[in-house]
Amino acid sequence: MFPVFTPTHGLLLAALSLLPTRLSCSSLAVPDVPHIAAYFGTKTRYEEVNPHLLRDVLSVNTSVLKPPPTERCSPVHLTAVIRHGSRYPTAKNIRRILKLSELVRAEASRDSGSSVGWLQDIRSRWEPWYTEDMDGQLVMKGRDDLRQLARRLATLFPSLLSEENVRKRRVSFISSSKHRCVSSVEAFQEGLQQHWSPHDGPPEFLHEVDDELMRFFERCRGYVEGVENNRTALLEVEKFKHGKEMDGVRKKVADKLGLPFHSLTPDLVEAAFFLCSYELSIKSVHSPWCFLFDERDAKVLEYKSDLKQYWKRSHGHVISSLSSCPLFHHVFRTLDKAGRPRRSSEASPEPASILVGHAETLLPLLSLLGLYKDQTPPTASNYHSQHGRSFRSGRIVPYAANLLLVLYDCRGGPRLQLLVNETPVGFPGLQEDAPLYRDVRAAYRHLLDGCDFRWECEGRGGGGGHGPNTEL
Ligand SMILES: *[C@@H]1O[C@H](CO)[C@@H](O)[C@H](O)[C@H]1NC(C)=O
Ligand SMILES: *[C@@H]1O[C@H](CO)[C@@H](O)[C@H](O)[C@H]1NC(C)=O
Repeated sequence: MFPVFTPTHGLLLAALSLLPTRLSCSSLAVPDVPHIAAYFGTKTRYEEVNPHLLRDVLSVNTSVLKPPPTERCSPVHLTAVIRHGSRYPTAKNIRRILKLSELVRAEASRDSGSSVGWLQDIRSRWEPWYTEDMDGQLVMKGRDDLRQLARRLATLFPSLLSEENVRKRRVSFISSSKHRCVSSVEAFQEGLQQHWSPHDGPPEFLHEVDDELMRFFERCRGYVEGVENNRTALLEVEKFKHGKEMDGVRKKVADKLGLPFHSLTPDLVEAAFFLCSYELSIKSVHSPWCFLFDERDAKVLEYKSDLKQYWKRSHGHVISSLSSCPLFHHVFRTLDKAGRPRRSSEASPEPASILVGHAETLLPLLSLLGLYKDQTPPTASNYHSQHGRSFRSGRIVPYAANLLLVLYDCRGGPRLQLLVNETPVGFPGLQEDAPLYRDVRAAYRHLLDGCDFRWECEGRGGGGGHGPNTEL
């Protein structure tokens, strides 16, 4: 009546009556997914955004490409700005995880009373296996994220990401210098190789490291001083962290763990929540830590992360999006070149440009383009009116998140389409899925003519205040 399981799971039977889901996570290849998996913010798996990939990681929906059918369009260029894949926690989060697990164990040794299966698991069977040297590195699953994305994009754009184009070095690959991004661009290239010739060895493709493009945020003084190192800039996050919604979650979790409220700080509650996310995204397991949270708690913790992303990396302060001006101009210069009319004697334009960076790279750029800007900004006090917000970091920048800009050659002139995470997204203020490129340029005219990194980031040409413009 039960699927086979090994003797090491002898305790399973006892837990079974309480938690039937544990059986499948222990003995079957396909894990059951925690019901809170869609609320992990930037630690969300890409599959949560595109669940059809759980059935087939290589499935591609070609109808996402939507140039007008009467215009006889063909894609001539793809720019893809991609976030690295699933990774280990950073050293800071690993330290929190270790602190939390010590706290819980210390409490467990005092309270030897009976407890439910998952709590026993957390207290005595779950071993913290994270070490600080893992610090943010790409995990195996993260390599798979990028390999599979590459294969899907090669299927979606066979004429652009073709073997010939890549082998002849006509496709550019640019990465942030961080280990997880370099590993991601290599995994992307491996994916292309597997797509064309599965039996060949590792590819010998090149990539370039460019932090001015992919880590612009740390070079923008106005941003670093005005937002990153400025506690007042993130006031809404601090307020929410100590507000009534978070206190409610802390109290519940502290009670479940048998800890005094004061010892379970907001950071430690978040560490427990992230543990659930890491065990899923790294090991594909349904961790016992997940049972500490129901969907309502998860939504509160998600909101806390979204507030941070909004005020630190997005519309909260315009300097955050303006810091991405170098990348914005790079992308449009590439598109300009690719869309320019050519004589047949001229070399054909670059068919694709693959840029690998961070959530911190994508969010400012998406914000600069005017995407995911809700009418009312999220704050510490309006949680209950924000359920329908479009700014949900788990939907926008999960692991392996990607912004695709597809340029088409059409009868009536070049057209441009945007996709975020392989789903079409409209340009703010323009109606069509793939408007004329000149209309897109007109819509972003103010940025194309301005958006000067020096001017914006070095304190407006040297004069005036250095603080961020906090206009929303
Ligand atoms: C394919 O994409 C189109 C356009 O976005 C969408 O309407 C359709 O539902 C998708 N089909 C599947 C099977 O996901
Ligand atoms: C810090 O942020 C606040 C609020 O956005 C702003 O008023 C202030 O000027 C900033 N401080 C600096 C040094 O930029």
